[in-house]
Amino acid sequence: MGQKNRNAEPAARQILDMNAFDPAAQDGAASPLLERHIANVGASAVLFYREPIELVSARGSWITAADGKRYLDFYNNVLSIGHSHPRVVAAVSDQIARLNINTRYLNRVVDRYLEALKATLPASLANLVLCCSGSEANDLAIRVTRATTGGTGIIVTENAYHGNTAIISDISPSALKRRALPDHVVTVAAPASPRRNGTTESAFAADIARAIAELERRGHALSAFICDSIFSSDGIYADPPGFLSAAVEAVRKAGGLYIADEVQPGFARTGEAFWGFARHGVVPDVVTVGKPMGNGFPMAGVATRPELLARFCEETGYFSTFGGNPVAAAAGLAVLDVIAEERLQDNAVRKGAHIKARLEDLAAKDDRIADVRGAGLFLGIELCRPGHAAEPDPELASSLINGLKERGVMIGAAGRFGNTLKVRPPLSLSEEEADIFVDRLADTLSAIPPP
Ligand SMILES: Cc1ncc(COP(=O)(O)O)c(C=O)c1O
Repeated sequence: MGQKNRNAEPAARQILDMNAFDPAAQDGAASPLLERHIANVGASAVLFYREPIELVSARGSWITAADGKRYLDFYNNVLSIGHSHPRVVAAVSDQIARLNINTRYLNRVVDRYLEALKATLPASLANLVLCCSGSEANDLAIRVTRATTGGTGIIVTENAYHGNTAIISDISPSALKRRALPDHVVTVAAPASPRRNGTTESAFAADIARAIAELERRGHALSAFICDSIFSSDGIYADPPGFLSAAVEAVRKAGGLYIADEVQPGFARTGEAFWGFARHGVVPDVVTVGKPMGNGFPMAGVATRPELLARFCEETGYFSTFGGNPVAAAAGLAVLDVIAEERLQDNAVRKGAHIKARLEDLAAKDDRIADVRGAGLFLGIELCRPGHAAEPDPELASSLINGLKERGVMIGAAGRFGNTLKVRPPLSLSEEEADIFVDRLADTLSAIPPP
């Protein structure tokens, strides 16, 4: 493990740079496949790991690489009900063999899905627009809030990532490498861990009020506060449940709307509720969903109140060729059925509590673990310099990610400095798999001597 600059504060990192393959830092010659890939995608390459892995198949919580090695997947929350779930495979295969067409025709599978999804959401969000990616969903959400409020100002958390379109890159501080945020975007700090005297509900609301005043000073009326209620790229802050309420109230008082980006915490991942915002007892004006929605089939969506959507549609025509087509709807229905039938929300509570308890035991013995936090099967393990909880150690996070890879576990990092491991296994995780993860993490930690 490199020991350079151990006393300096680490540099802030973009979410896409965490655990990313860096061709410039490569030791030996690249494999022919790696060379071929880089030649094809150029500077847009976003491969994971110091030595990228070639994957060939997956089932349940396990992924198999081309060399036959199996990895326990604690990273990929898209495959939320388990890789290659037979119900999704069957639903997609059946529907694609029957009919797959754009969304300008009536089809019963599509409306069955829309109604099943609406049944999980607050009744006021009675209209849904389906699309193909979380970025596209957030892009539409921002446009809907702008059309309704007439404002342009947007508040985001300081390390947020909401996607890749032009509008959304501008509100994703964690995606911007050199460019400053535009004038109409103001950030607030993510709420810190309560166990380390974290941000209270009123302090977070006061930050929001300051951000509103700053936007006004710059001549931007508030349009929306958008946040991912598990603060995934900010470093995972779930508690205390309810802390978003006062912030949302302040936003509405200023004439703004609250967009809940559920791309990460949605679809039962936090265990305590089907949606992340529901843990906080708030009803958003707009909800955006994606990632686990089709268990790997590309689908996403926006849920909102009919009058907000109507206002937007008065000004702009909106159509998505692929969004919410019959095959996507079949995949989405299978996902909702499996979450209910296999009681995966309940499993997220139980397995999440089991992992958290074991990680807390580990933290009690290893002072390089500053904090263990999160909800359900979305946990964060914050790493620090030994005994110094306030001194982030991203190098340790990186060594653990690569050490766990050697031991057959995939995991990633988050947070401003990349020093928080993101624990996000499939919701179908077994207790045996949960224990394999903690045992291998403990083994990896013990193989890395403290500096
Ligand atoms: C919170 C959040 N919102 C939106 C997105 C964008 O989703 P997509 O990559 O499907 O466009 C992401 C992707 O990582 C995300 O983490």
